[in-house]
Amino acid sequence: MHDNEAGAIDVGGALPRHVAIIMDGNGRWAKAQGKPRIIGHRRGVETVREVVKACRELEIEVLTLFAFSSENWRRPAKEVGLLMDLFFTALDREVKRLHHNNIRLRIIGDHSAFPARIQKRIIKAETLTADNDGMTLNVAANYGGKWDIVQATRKLAAKAVHGEIEADAITDEMIEAELSMSELPDPDLFIRTGGEERISNFLIWQLAYTELYFTDTLWPAFDRSEFDKALSSFAGRQRRFGHTGEQIEKLRNA
Ligand code: IPE
Ligand code: IPE
Ligand code: MG
Repeated sequence: MHDNEAGAIDVGGALPRHVAIIMDGNGRWAKAQGKPRIIGHRRGVETVREVVKACRELEIEVLTLFAFSSENWRRPAKEVGLLMDLFFTALDREVKRLHHNNIRLRIIGDHSAFPARIQKRIIKAETLTADNDGMTLNVAANYGGKWDIVQATRKLAAKAVHGEIEADAITDEMIEAELSMSELPDPDLFIRTGGEERISNFLIWQLAYTELYFTDTLWPAFDRSEFDKALSSFAGRQRRFGHTGEQIEKLRNA
């Protein structure tokens, strides 16, 4: 990027093009009501439905949701099993609705850890919705930001070994091209519910210049008004990408 070229950066609008969310706090939400954790996960699916609907209405182009991290396998086997069941019944149930609403569904992450029948279902859902252009919904399942960078590195290393590229000539654009979601704009707004202020190995590379928003609200309680709060926080920020505030004002008024 040539920093001094007017228009070389996207100073952005009031609404994000791409929102990425760490949906955290399901377990604590359930616990607060004396219920098992899975009840919180189930309620969390309802929040997903509402947030997808809101994004579609607002014409946000991309929504990326962290459903299961590469570290979540460390949870008790029973919870992992219940989460898998829930994820895949929700997938089955929601795909038609997504398709009907012209939403393209992508599941990002390492699919190879899932049973074959589930992998087939993922491909089926992605194929069905592949041509939809109303919005893209990425669900990160067995996803890790480090995994993403490693898989991209492997592809580039293989190209170098085969003489297709020079190791010295590797650029950030070439790495980007191999990452999950390479064809999509980077997230403009990152939201994490549940009070923790960390990335937990979600998108690492792609969040380099994303606006971060943290809220104590637990994911099952994250309703439309909470989402609107995050969006209005975003709308009030000035994204500078290394420039000065004055430069950005000039670009805006150009
Ligand atoms: C987020 O909620 C959902 C997943 C990680 C799958 P948690 O299950 O992490 O809920 P807390 O953080 O324990 O409350
Ligand atoms: C992050 O939440 C992963 C998902 C929401 C899927 P966690 O609850 O697993 O994160 P940590 O372990 O508290 O950082
Ligand atoms: Mg958590």
